[in-house]
Amino acid sequence: MKDAKISVHKLSISFNGRRALDDVSIDFRAKRVTALIGPSGCGKSTLLRALNRMIDLTPDVEASGEIFIDGVDIRRRDVDVNALRRTVGMVFQNPTVFPKSVFENLVFGARVAGESRPARLEEIAERAATEAGIWNEIKDRLNEPAANLSGGQRQRLCIARAFAVEPEVLLMDEPTNDLDRVSTAKIEELILQLRKRLTVVLVTHNIQQAARVSDYTAFFDDGKLVEYDKTQDVFTNPSHPRTEDYVTGRFG
Ligand SMILES: Nc1ncnc2c1ncn2[C@@H]1O[C@H](COP(=O)(O)OP(=O)(O)O)[C@@H](O)[C@H]1O
Ligand SMILES: [Mg+2]
Repeated sequence: MKDAKISVHKLSISFNGRRALDDVSIDFRAKRVTALIGPSGCGKSTLLRALNRMIDLTPDVEASGEIFIDGVDIRRRDVDVNALRRTVGMVFQNPTVFPKSVFENLVFGARVAGESRPARLEEIAERAATEAGIWNEIKDRLNEPAANLSGGQRQRLCIARAFAVEPEVLLMDEPTNDLDRVSTAKIEELILQLRKRLTVVLVTHNIQQAARVSDYTAFFDDGKLVEYDKTQDVFTNPSHPRTEDYVTGRFG
């Protein structure tokens, strides 16, 4: 695919000898939102965690295949994993704020990268928080512990923290699972704004969410990629009966 940001080629991953992903090949288009859907345990998080090599942190994991990002195989031994994780940011299901102030959460990545000039850090914090749609809510609370924020605010703070290092790809693993409807709507709104700017890969078990915010949808079952197409086609005209059963809520 010519506009692929990420190109996964024959990726298989096993934990303790048990296959979690089975020979998956999939391209993620640049500056589009791709949703990964499928029943619990089908391998969505495993694929996502492979894309920034978070999976390397799991003991007894074995993988084969290639993952090209901008043409570079990120599974190669000589890849700078810290740089990779700045380019490929990640947001998890439970908002994992650091036990620090709101401000220090925002500038965490910048400090790690060696930035220490106060004016520059303030600039980075404001830009990232504005992009994550949370600046107005936190600008007077920058010195408070991040843990004081509501769940939805903490999740947007995590997104802002990822934005602060100017990623090109954002991986989101069920980012609204623990959130109420209002906070979920805010995150979905944000994802819609990210379209055309960032490459987003979103794992969700909320079918309606995939339909609302994604350009493309990939349906997985039992470690295999079953169907992958424009979201509208997957939902209105699935080519595989298993996909149809899933998107119409017959199983999952
Ligand atoms: N750290 C791990 N150790 C052992 N097995 C794992 C680990 N992570 C995931 N698995 C297994 O891999 C399969 C896929 O899991 P996962 O990618 O988390 O699925 P999903 O995100 O689609 O629910 C499941 O069978 C799961 O039990
Ligand atoms: Mg998962």
